[in-house]
Amino acid sequence: MNSSLLAAAPWWRPDTGDTLVIQGGRPLVGTYPISGAKNAVLPLMVSALLTPHLVTLHNVPANLDVAVLAALLQRLGCEMHWSTKADLSVTISADRVQPGRIDPDLVSRMRASVLLLGALLARCGEALLPMPGGDAIGLRGIDFHIDGLRAMGAAVELEGGMIRARAPRGLRGADILLPLPSVGATENLLLAALHAQGTTTIRNAAREPEIADLAACLIAMGARISGLGSHVLTVEGGAPLAGAIHTVLPDRIEFGTLALAAAVTGGALSLRHGRIDLLGVAASSFAAAGVDLQQADGGVVARRARNGLAGVDVTTGPYPGFATDLQAPVMALLATAAGASAVTETIFEQRFRHVDELAKMGAAIAVRGRTALIRGVDRLQGATVTCTDVRAAAALVIAGLGADGETRLGGLDHLDRGYDRMTQKLAFCGADIARLG
Ligand code: UD1
Repeated sequence: MNSSLLAAAPWWRPDTGDTLVIQGGRPLVGTYPISGAKNAVLPLMVSALLTPHLVTLHNVPANLDVAVLAALLQRLGCEMHWSTKADLSVTISADRVQPGRIDPDLVSRMRASVLLLGALLARCGEALLPMPGGDAIGLRGIDFHIDGLRAMGAAVELEGGMIRARAPRGLRGADILLPLPSVGATENLLLAALHAQGTTTIRNAAREPEIADLAACLIAMGARISGLGSHVLTVEGGAPLAGAIHTVLPDRIEFGTLALAAAVTGGALSLRHGRIDLLGVAASSFAAAGVDLQQADGGVVARRARNGLAGVDVTTGPYPGFATDLQAPVMALLATAAGASAVTETIFEQRFRHVDELAKMGAAIAVRGRTALIRGVDRLQGATVTCTDVRAAAALVIAGLGADGETRLGGLDHLDRGYDRMTQKLAFCGADIARLG
């Protein structure tokens, strides 16, 4: 596993030590560089499959998901050249693509690998993919993806844990209504539609900024896409696609997570490349909870508001609603905010697995169906906890940074999947944090 990652992503350093040890209570102070968005770079890397020309991406986050996708693309015949000169950049050449060679072990590690389906169908007319893996946070069906591809003329069969899709005579444009504004389905169908004959309309499309970032790169390649940032995306298929050079959007989830960490520890972080405008509704929830954000030159300064942390009610929703990926992190802050909070999760049905872990640290949280009721306590205490998904991992780091005493985190693959060198960046800002074991 690690050898195929290192071959495809030589910058990837599997961090030694499977326990993250944090001595809490130190304010975070300094500059924390926000990396490119994980959720933008994955579809952008997959989009390189659509063209035989070179696609160069700058501001690539150095995380495990990127390394896994790089290994998958390499198996499919892509060549990748990495540069670590200024930021991490990759140039991908998908001159020769061999659609049959997908590694089930790698696919099982990452839900976003389902995006290979649309891109491979479009480029090669066929795709054979094991059912994708990813976080254990709910059903996370892929029915919208499959129904959309079928509407575009693909024959898709599910058998023995595999998805087999074929469109030997090519895909055709279709009018598709998504039952929910699914991020992944919007991206998958967008990619597939580029090589379909005629016009594809995706209604009830997701509007996350990462989709507009993907579309911007595709348009630079020559794609004809309209309706960016709206619920209706229209694609005129069949335009020849050239290469492109694109800089990945800053990660709004990493930004929001570190803003919360600054406020929890009572420090002040200058979040380089952070953008308040990408937070959507979360910006006003953060303000109400006592997270002070000031946009400055080249980034955002985040600190605790003078009146301290206060309980707020939060309901997750599709963008610009409160991002489900910030739900666990905000709960780590609300655990010690004055008063009560209600956090309702509407996107994923099992995304409260961090609650038991936060409770081990002294948080007072009761789950009633899709809502977690939080009574703010004065302090959390360090404990031994386990990361249950990518965003739960971030929440536990925030909790550990603010807690009294020592917190020991296991299950660090989750942290590595989503965050670029978090341990080093935090240590640089004064955290007492180290990986041991
Ligand atoms: C993406 C993000 C993830 C984020 C999520 C919601 C990436 C790589 N991941 O995940 O970080 O938490 O958006 O903002 O960008 N659904 C179905 N059938 C489908 C597709 C989705 O029922 O075919 C449901 C899911 O189970 C879920 C909801 O729709 O309840 C939203 O899922 P979706 O937006 O597709 O999330 P992802 O694209 O997997």
